[in-house]
Amino acid sequence: MSKGSEKPLRIGLAGFGTVGGGLVRLLRENADVIRRRAGRDVVLTRVLVRNPAKARDTALPDGVALTTDYRELTDDPQIDVLVELIGGIDHARALIDRALDQGKHVVTANKALLAEEGPDLFRKAERKKRILRYEASVAGAIPIVEALRQSLAGNRVHDLMGILNGTSNYILSEMTSNNMDFDVALKQAQTLGYAEADPTLDIDGHDAAHKLILLIRLAYGVHYPYTALSVRGIRGLSGLDIRLAREFGYRIKLIGQVREVPSPQAGEDDSQVRLEAGVFPALVHHTYLLARVGGVYNAVRVEANAAGALFFHGRGAGDLPTAGAVLADVLAVARDERPNNTGFAGSDLPRASIVPPQEWRSCYYVRVMVQDAPGVLRDISGCMAAEGISMAQVIQKSDEGHGVPLVFMTHETTAQAMSDALQCALDAGLLKEPAVYFRVLGGA
Ligand code: NAP
Ligand code: HSE
Repeated sequence: MSKGSEKPLRIGLAGFGTVGGGLVRLLRENADVIRRRAGRDVVLTRVLVRNPAKARDTALPDGVALTTDYRELTDDPQIDVLVELIGGIDHARALIDRALDQGKHVVTANKALLAEEGPDLFRKAERKKRILRYEASVAGAIPIVEALRQSLAGNRVHDLMGILNGTSNYILSEMTSNNMDFDVALKQAQTLGYAEADPTLDIDGHDAAHKLILLIRLAYGVHYPYTALSVRGIRGLSGLDIRLAREFGYRIKLIGQVREVPSPQAGEDDSQVRLEAGVFPALVHHTYLLARVGGVYNAVRVEANAAGALFFHGRGAGDLPTAGAVLADVLAVARDERPNNTGFAGSDLPRASIVPPQEWRSCYYVRVMVQDAPGVLRDISGCMAAEGISMAQVIQKSDEGHGVPLVFMTHETTAQAMSDALQCALDAGLLKEPAVYFRVLGGA
């Protein structure tokens, strides 16, 4: 369709939950600006749900009906674009496949699907010459997909790290600032519409990991298999560690990070670059911008060779912030904008060369619970020294009832050396329970 066409763009909306409801609201509230930006009307035709009898907060426009039959969206020749906001893998995949087969463009916020099956979908969209856009799938309202795909295309990205899950950040912020219990904060995040339908995806780090996979693709033009990513979430994180980290001047944040690590033969050749990538809770010094990202906010810090450091910050979840990003994609479809799906030519991306997690180098925060007795500190230090780990700071706190917390901040070491040293201490009977340890971003 040519730009400026008078024919309205007709949407089939799959999903009328948090984000779908937000989109319906924005289509109504922003109709004038949408028409001016797109040069045509954007109209909703039909809405797919699971349970049509459910009470909804948002009213549908006159004449727009709910359906439970997805073919009423995918097979209707009047519909130009499918907006997929049901989430999950299998149903969403079937729906998008069918829509592409039927010649529809697709807009989705589904990072789980794109992380796990994105390459297949991108290939199919390319084959069918259809647009597939996914701005809302990473960091809600923050336009990081477009920034990496278009605005930073002239750069080489060295390092990208961020707070990519609003629910986890909300929980950590409430635990840090208001001493709230983990479970109460999670419940609130669910009520506010931030959490995934299955909140274990949020608290076990998988939602952030899905987003990181998409960012790796956009930043490096490589396929990093989801199953190869090292993922650790915030489940079971103790208020004690949040308090102790504060005493050292740090906040605990759930971080997703990817950075280039030159391989021994590295030159200017991209294929020699290895990637270190993962999701993990980390101590972030309170003076860093990332430490100040509170509540449901997300942030992404990109370090690139031409631009230098950039910091993106905004609401990472919620109905309107996410729906705004979905709507921007719908407008791009209305204007027939057709960028490559990843910003790299072709959809067959090479596999990433991956640094194994045991080799990652970092400073560490380590908390062990020990008996307050002569020689314990010396023996634990011995285990650390045997692995070549050097301490930066040590403090001992008063008895917690189940032992004395002994906290170390270390100089840089590998993940392997750290786990071996702590296993040595456990095997020697020095620890009352397994050690808790986190990476420290940017040094102790
Ligand atoms: P949600 O509130 O759980 O809503 C899901 C909607 O999809 C509901 O209307 C549900 O119908 C419908 N649905 C689910 N499975 C279906 C099926 N098999 N067939 C037909 N309809 C089905 O989800 P959400 O929070 O809006 O999230 C939607 C997508 O956006 C997900 O991919 C999520 O990861 C992504 N996302 C969410 C946010 C956020 O802040 N919530 C932010 C960024 C991205 P019923 O209403 O009848 O149950
Ligand atoms: N559950 C996700 C989060 C929604 O908490 O960040 C946004 O992708």
